[in-house]
Amino acid sequence: MIKCILCGSKFDVYERRVLCKCGGLLEVELQCNTRVSWSLFKNRSFRLWRYRELIPLPSDVNIVSLCEGGTPLIRLTSSSEVLGVKNVFLKFEGANPTGSFKDRGMTVAISIAKHLGVKTVMCASTGNTSASMTAYAARAGLKPIIILPKRGIAKGKISQAILHGAEIVFVRGYFDDALRVVMEASLKGVAYPLNSINPWRIEGQKTVAYEIVEEIGVPDWIILPVGNAGNISAVWKGLTELRRLGLIDRLPRLAGVQASGAAPLVQAFKRGLEKPVFIDDPKTIASAIRIGKPVNWPRAMKALRESRGVMVDVSDEEIIEAQRLLARREGIGVEPASAAAIAGLKKLREAHYIDKDELIVVIATGHALKDPDQASSHPIRVHNATSINDAVEIIGKISSIYESSKT
Ligand SMILES: Cc1ncc(COP(=O)(O)O)c(C=O)c1O
Ligand SMILES: [Zn+2]
Repeated sequence: MIKCILCGSKFDVYERRVLCKCGGLLEVELQCNTRVSWSLFKNRSFRLWRYRELIPLPSDVNIVSLCEGGTPLIRLTSSSEVLGVKNVFLKFEGANPTGSFKDRGMTVAISIAKHLGVKTVMCASTGNTSASMTAYAARAGLKPIIILPKRGIAKGKISQAILHGAEIVFVRGYFDDALRVVMEASLKGVAYPLNSINPWRIEGQKTVAYEIVEEIGVPDWIILPVGNAGNISAVWKGLTELRRLGLIDRLPRLAGVQASGAAPLVQAFKRGLEKPVFIDDPKTIASAIRIGKPVNWPRAMKALRESRGVMVDVSDEEIIEAQRLLARREGIGVEPASAAAIAGLKKLREAHYIDKDELIVVIATGHALKDPDQASSHPIRVHNATSINDAVEIIGKISSIYESSKT
């Protein structure tokens, strides 16, 4: 069953509904009597569908999959000193099939869409949702329609959507305006919406929490970037389900990170408000989280409340610095929104929210190649050789500096 988080109304899975009659967000209910154990999962391949009992789709649904999930959990080494913490892991969601965490939600939501007999799917997007939805729609034989703000979609993401055969509708304004179009269109029933208001998206995305605790146990903190606030809600749903099922006995605290120019939830957190302070003109280089009116805010506020969580904002300069730190000290290329989570960790540590010995997982939501313009804007030295000999001489000069260094 699917349940309204506001009024508690219940709906059948076969209703194509993504909002309650009262306007409340919907949530897929996982039955408490679901019988699972870690040993049940252990012998299956380390992919999202390893947890199939915890994703309550009707049993006759054909799964549309691109082998998502099972992403690397990488211990940070050289950068942890700069970050001021000893035990920090990065869950690299950029290793999903289309390069972001969105694939987790999409394998589930596209599978149910196909099962319900849907022919056209739509989403508003800052880029990654559309890249993922178009790929999964292609695999399922559905037509993808994407609604995008005219400016600010990173090149890598829009290239993916074009490659997979999207029909694109550009709208004026920001992601929030594009999402309003999707809400209207879904009320009219003209296409099936696959934004994170769709509760099946959350069902897929929650599995990142299952993977983390299965691999290293329950961390003290999970830190992640927040835009429309679907993912932080999904992570919390996953964790609380695990505890209800007796698979873990404690819960981590959550830390959500927003860019300073697009921080409606951080403002609410700082001022102790129950609701976010919506922003009409969000600004940040981290285009994936350039969102002023997160629709999943009720779920996110609940997650923050229940986890004794925190929200922190970081400047674009801090995001760029964190992206460079990961890229150059760890060899991990993430897009700016994901780097924001690393910048957030540094800030929370400096503010003594986080202790240096605590076990921390940062979810890096998307790959650096998603935004090649931004990735290639970091400073680098370039040498223009005039001949082969000149090139060889330059190489010799550069390497002599490093060859003679002691470390
Ligand atoms: C790379 C990346 N990180 C973070 C987010 C934010 O996720 P959510 O909107 O679920 O808060 C997005 C959303 O588009 C994203 O693409
Ligand atoms: Zn309701």
